[in-house]
Amino acid sequence: MPDTLNNIAKQGENGATMMPIIQGVGRAAIEIAAVLRGAVFRGALGEAGGENVQGEQQQMLDVLSDEIFLEEMRSTGFICAVGSEEQEELLVIEEYTHADYLVLVDPLDGSSNLDVDGPVGTIFSVVKRKSANSERPHVSDTLQSGRHVVAAGYVLYGPSTMLVCSVGSGVNGYTFNPAVARFEMSHADMRIPATGGYYSVNESNKDKWQDNMGDNLRRLKAETGLGMRYVGAMVADMHRTILKGGVFFYPADNKNTTGKLRLLYEAIPMGFIMEQAGGKSMSKDIAVLDIVPEALHQRVPVYLGSEANVDSLLG
Ligand code: AHG
Ligand code: MN
Ligand code: MN
Repeated sequence: MPDTLNNIAKQGENGATMMPIIQGVGRAAIEIAAVLRGAVFRGALGEAGGENVQGEQQQMLDVLSDEIFLEEMRSTGFICAVGSEEQEELLVIEEYTHADYLVLVDPLDGSSNLDVDGPVGTIFSVVKRKSANSERPHVSDTLQSGRHVVAAGYVLYGPSTMLVCSVGSGVNGYTFNPAVARFEMSHADMRIPATGGYYSVNESNKDKWQDNMGDNLRRLKAETGLGMRYVGAMVADMHRTILKGGVFFYPADNKNTTGKLRLLYEAIPMGFIMEQAGGKSMSKDIAVLDIVPEALHQRVPVYLGSEANVDSLLG
């Protein structure tokens, strides 16, 4: 009998408390995957007609995925509030304001890939509240550095649906097996290779990059001879980087002067996974996980990959 998400209960000191929350993520993933597969038949592809707080056009599937994820977090009974890329304010779960944990989520990552049937993902992290359980959860509960993350992970909606997660004792990957309708452990103890792989970046921005990154990339390429891959969905680019090695990065540029990727919904959860997989996660001169967030929708530069590649890029 293969290991399922139940196995998370045996992982590290937080596994038992995190298991029901990650099972909730698994239920959301199954629903979101089904909605993605059927979207074209229901007219659910395309823009929703609104903008999110970041000024980006929301797709209908961004909105649906956000609703599904929130409902599944509510159903666990362990979450008092959810901070979402698609919601301006922290969403308090009124039935469970006393619960211990908050979740931060990018419900649908890489949504520009939807129109071309490309891979997309979901990214999440869990933190314990700082405020007393008798109080109403507050946005300040989410503004904790990545060193306080209790669990994090991502779902990749590709040819198969995969849930990759960590409760702080390594990274495991579970693949949804449709024959038995459950996630089964398929990638135990994922570790990024120390060498080899690919560099992954939107190189069309090179002339706008800050921090000398154009020269640094030229040096990395000369030193390593790495090939290049870029899907444009962080989940897919990170998943390949962990399995094959290399580095994924999104520097600050003259348009996105503080970087593009969101600290709480993308950088911290992926930084946590990368460190747990034996790699390095930097935001220029500070580790991603050492940044103390100042705002829910803050953006930062990210450099995630094998230690040697990240050091070479930032050197
Ligand atoms: P989202 O779809 O959640 O807004 O995220 C898109 C992000 C990330 O997934 C990806 O790495 C990056 O944007 C791609 O940006 P560019 O199109 O600028 O390369
Ligand atoms: Mn995203
Ligand atoms: Mn998104």
